[in-house]
Amino acid sequence: MKRMPLIAGNWKMFKTVPEAVETATRLADACREIQNVEIMIAPAFVTLPLVAEAVKNTRVHLGAQNLYFEPEGAFTGEISADMLSTAGAEYVIIGHSERRHYFFETDEMICKKIKAAVTGGLKPILCIGETESLREQGKTFLTLDKQVSDGLQGLGPDEIKDLVLAYEPVWAIGTGKSADAAQVEEAHQYLRSLLEKQFSLDLAKTIRILYGGSVKPENINELMRITDVDGALVGGASLDVHTFTKIIKFDTQL
Ligand code: PGA
Repeated sequence: MKRMPLIAGNWKMFKTVPEAVETATRLADACREIQNVEIMIAPAFVTLPLVAEAVKNTRVHLGAQNLYFEPEGAFTGEISADMLSTAGAEYVIIGHSERRHYFFETDEMICKKIKAAVTGGLKPILCIGETESLREQGKTFLTLDKQVSDGLQGLGPDEIKDLVLAYEPVWAIGTGKSADAAQVEEAHQYLRSLLEKQFSLDLAKTIRILYGGSVKPENINELMRITDVDGALVGGASLDVHTFTKIIKFDTQL
């Protein structure tokens, strides 16, 4: 089963509106000729409508970094799935470890967010991954198991058909220390087996599982050679067009 690789850039809380528009425009230009890989950027909420305009009819898809699970209401400071999709977002990152850590997001909230995304027509990218101390305690698989089963609780096969999983070991995010090939391989294999158990073999074969955590031009080829790695969620290295383009062009370097 051939899955279309997805290279996604998470811009986090970087870039003002003009900076985001300028970077997106240059990225779209640099990626004009790229085939066989889907490219996505997730800039800050306020930049979405203008960035959407800048990448319209190009190879670059657009995503948001978070959403709130209620459709609308008195929830000061929050944003809904409809607001994001009408601003031009196609994807939404959910349950990033920074959201879990700094904003106390639980698997239960994350599950509601996935449901809200699906209802609102957005493709969710569910982030999961163990902390360093959980890995040291030998609880990596247990953590992934809980995050996947609780995060996708009650969702049916139709609802998860556009889901993307992103395995991001917390200790590898923003640290320069990427997981090694063996660690990535065993985690991705395990995640695909979880999807098979919770849904079906057919669905498990179609869902893309990205790796995230210190992805850079120097390690993308090795990561993309791993059977169950279907792309990358890139933080720091997605902020610079030249660096991000090198990651996106991984296949031409293989
Ligand atoms: P990083 O971040 O590439 O800077 O490690 C990845 C992420 O947070 O998604």
